[in-house]
Amino acid sequence: MTSNEPWWKDAVVYQIYPSSFLDGNGDGTGDIKGIMQGLEHIKSLGADTIWLSPVYESPMVDMGYDISNYEKINPLYGTLEDMDTLISACHSKQMKIVMDLIINHTSDKHAWFLESQSSRDNPKADWYHWHDGRIDANGKRSVPNNWESYFGGSAWEWCPTREQYYLHMYSVQQPDINWDNLDAREAVYNSAMRFWLDKGIDGFRIDTMPIYIKPRGYPDAPIKNPDSYTQRDGGWEHHPEVFDLHREFYDKIWSKYGELLLVGELLNIDDKSVALKYCSKSAKRVGMGFQFDTACIGYELDWYEVDPWTIPQFAKSIADWQQFVEGTDGWTCQFLENHDIGRSVDRFGSRKYWAESAKLLATLEATCSGTLFVFQGQEIGMTNVPKDWPIEEYIDVSSQGYWERAGKTPEAMANLQLVARDNSRTPMQWSGDVHGGFTTGRPWMRVNENYVDINVKKQDGDQASVLNYWRRALKLRREYNQVFVHGNFRLLESSQEKVVIYRKSSNSSTATVVLNFSDEEALEELPEDIGDLVLSNVDSISTVGRLQPWEARVYINIR
Ligand code: GLC
Repeated sequence: MTSNEPWWKDAVVYQIYPSSFLDGNGDGTGDIKGIMQGLEHIKSLGADTIWLSPVYESPMVDMGYDISNYEKINPLYGTLEDMDTLISACHSKQMKIVMDLIINHTSDKHAWFLESQSSRDNPKADWYHWHDGRIDANGKRSVPNNWESYFGGSAWEWCPTREQYYLHMYSVQQPDINWDNLDAREAVYNSAMRFWLDKGIDGFRIDTMPIYIKPRGYPDAPIKNPDSYTQRDGGWEHHPEVFDLHREFYDKIWSKYGELLLVGELLNIDDKSVALKYCSKSAKRVGMGFQFDTACIGYELDWYEVDPWTIPQFAKSIADWQQFVEGTDGWTCQFLENHDIGRSVDRFGSRKYWAESAKLLATLEATCSGTLFVFQGQEIGMTNVPKDWPIEEYIDVSSQGYWERAGKTPEAMANLQLVARDNSRTPMQWSGDVHGGFTTGRPWMRVNENYVDINVKKQDGDQASVLNYWRRALKLRREYNQVFVHGNFRLLESSQEKVVIYRKSSNSSTATVVLNFSDEEALEELPEDIGDLVLSNVDSISTVGRLQPWEARVYINIR
């Protein structure tokens, strides 16, 4: 390990989606008690940090991303005492714990919003974005502008008590906080940030980081879709003043709590220089950012129209986001799954070669530089929901919004089957027991029927399983962390469109990774100075240059 680097660079972070992880009390929803029970599994995988998607009090319109009280725990998940116990349990196992920080908006049931919406002159009247709307020549009132919420429809909602509109970039029940109001700022600092840092958590995943400051004067978004009044891409991401705000977070809060893991959600970003403004060390904002270019290749987050893409494009995207921090003081991270996207084996792998392709993706993840994030279930190759599930099983607010606005077509269904958020949110498959061992009650969301074949218990005892492959891959990552976590990344030429070869290098070693993203065998000439084979997902390698379908190899050459 490198001792002079912050701990979070070498961390392997395991993301827990609380509702679907493990139900400890039999009510059908995962909870903190279940998380406690699952810690050993996470540790045995080789992850050393957990990130909890929100566990705060919430009406659950957007699965906890609508918070009604930052200082309380959703009773579905447990109590504040349970959280204290979880924090100490993690620390006593030498694990770290990171929470989700959702501060672009609160729930419309948060006491701050209830007060703010009650009149135009209460003390919190200005804590959210309020607007009279537009009045036309005939005196008819309409929304202030054409902004479209990320979940579809206008980003403005009429409030009868104030006779004004409020802004919500997500659902109607998620009003955006007005960050210009200094009292609101201070309240967020105390309630959402200091409250939890004082309890000893080790960092935050910062939700929707680029959109806290809205374009001044709420100008209309450019019209890119002439068929709709509301428009996406209103320039509300990366406002110049949002960088000042994140610097303020650092100066006032983060810097007071030692080495925190701070990963900000960058949303849809392709400009690497903008990404660096958030995550360069000297800029003092966050440690790293989640960019969705790679994981969302072919579409945009929250917008499910999927275009075709190729393996060379995918590889280039990985390379770009690996390299953008090289030679700078910035840091990157690597992930292919989270609670907002489809399962990686269905996006980038193969159902025909399910195990091989899940292991190939594990190889890719374990050998990429930056902090690694693994989403629950990814370690056993959990899949998207079955194709025969009807639309009623897609219960996510964003999926429903898309289904409506896309006109309920077969194409829309095909897109949902591939990338809907529901795909990654099905309950964790622990065993072949009823409901996959997730609960003894009635699961809050339908369990994927393939739990009979794909589950932790079955894979745990099988050395050839996806789970045990992940364990080996993460062990290798730790052992050679200089080259895998901190090394430089270079794509090498390959003669086959679906073969990806890259080199990782550090001062003392070079690793070469060979991945065949195809159901077909491939012949490839490999570099001569490739070194020793240290990881492979097939039983035996026939000829050096002959790659079996979805074969993955890692070679190391130590100088
Ligand atoms: C982030 C979360 C997503 C949520 C949205 C609104 O993108 O990851 O799940 O719906 O923010 O908070």
